[in-house]
Amino acid sequence: MTQTVLPTVELGTGGPLVGVQGLGCMGMSEFYGPTDTGEALATLDAALATGVTLFDTADMYGSGRNEELIGPFARANRDQVVLATKFSILRSEEDGAVRGISNDPAYIRTAVDASLRRLGTDVIDLYYMHRRDPAVPLADSVGAMAELVRAGKVRHLGLSEVTGAELREAHAIHPISALQSEWSVFARDVERTAVPAAAELGVAFVPYSPLGRGFLTGAFQDAKELSADDYRRSHPRYTGDNAAANGELLDPLRKIAAARGVTLAQVALAWVHQQAEVHGLAVVPIPGTRRRGRLAENTAAATLRLTAEELALLEPVAGRVAGNRYADMSSTSAARE
Ligand SMILES: NC(=O)c1ccc[n+]([C@@H]2O[C@H](COP(=O)([O-])OP(=O)(O)OC[C@H]3O[C@@H](n4cnc5c(N)ncnc54)[C@H](OP(=O)(O)O)[C@@H]3O)[C@@H](O)[C@H]2O)c1
Repeated sequence: MTQTVLPTVELGTGGPLVGVQGLGCMGMSEFYGPTDTGEALATLDAALATGVTLFDTADMYGSGRNEELIGPFARANRDQVVLATKFSILRSEEDGAVRGISNDPAYIRTAVDASLRRLGTDVIDLYYMHRRDPAVPLADSVGAMAELVRAGKVRHLGLSEVTGAELREAHAIHPISALQSEWSVFARDVERTAVPAAAELGVAFVPYSPLGRGFLTGAFQDAKELSADDYRRSHPRYTGDNAAANGELLDPLRKIAAARGVTLAQVALAWVHQQAEVHGLAVVPIPGTRRRGRLAENTAAATLRLTAEELALLEPVAGRVAGNRYADMSSTSAARE
């Protein structure tokens, strides 16, 4: 496969220029089975060489270990890497279980310093609120994030899993560069309010899980095939009867992939890029991979163009997906719309 060098896009009005596809680093430390640090680090280098510049982590991935993993890489390439991390999901130090969400301004001030320390940098390029706690007014939480920009600890602000109305309210407090939420052939609820609001405000959209956590690639048929501690084993879409039904929904992707000589992953990524064009907003999907081979495959998708007929085949898929995006939907944007 010839190496693709990605074109760039502005990450929100006035935001940094980034390659049109980023890299999700979460799986390099946790959630999706055994990890290989050497291959993960080689994948980071290969990504940068291909024009990927937006690297996505969060303080909760591996309970801080993911930030520690990518810190040295980011420091070594500080002028090229656009480093994105997130706060707000609280985990137990003993067992890693998720214990809640905090948008409290005092907590935000502590969390940013902890992320800066683990990353070994003095500024985070893009700092996201990972989940919204509706009990805390956005004036307080986004207000505290804006103070971090003024203090020079953070360059740009992002939000994750917020509704269109919340994005508008936040953007009026301080410009939001990026909205990161799940968006894929299988997950389109964001097109109700979040995507139109982002388009209207000039906020870039960063689709997470654009490969449906790997299910859209055909790499597994049921999460019970995966390792015992794989997070997807508890995911409603990828196990049991839902997985069997959802697997059949991949037929149009298989058909397109076979006709075009590309992979299912590439069809899924091309769809996200083109669906953003439909809505008229900048998009930087962050497919997650820990392997160089898959990275090359995924970046090559950024230049694949699906035809109108192929897009029409994919149009009904999301409406037929069985199961929710999460076992517990309570902290998603969909729950507050
Ligand atoms: N804001 C949020 O709430 C939130 C939630 C979830 C994720 N995220 C971020 O979004 C990033 C991406 O989402 P995600 O990792 O959940 O899901 P994803 O990108 O949809 O899928 C990742 C999975 O697909 C596999 N994969 C990647 N490329 C492949 C290919 N070409 N062929 C076959 N399999 C392939 C990966 O395995 P290998 O690693 O083995 O290749 C991994 O298991 C994460 O890394 C994280 O940074 C954010």
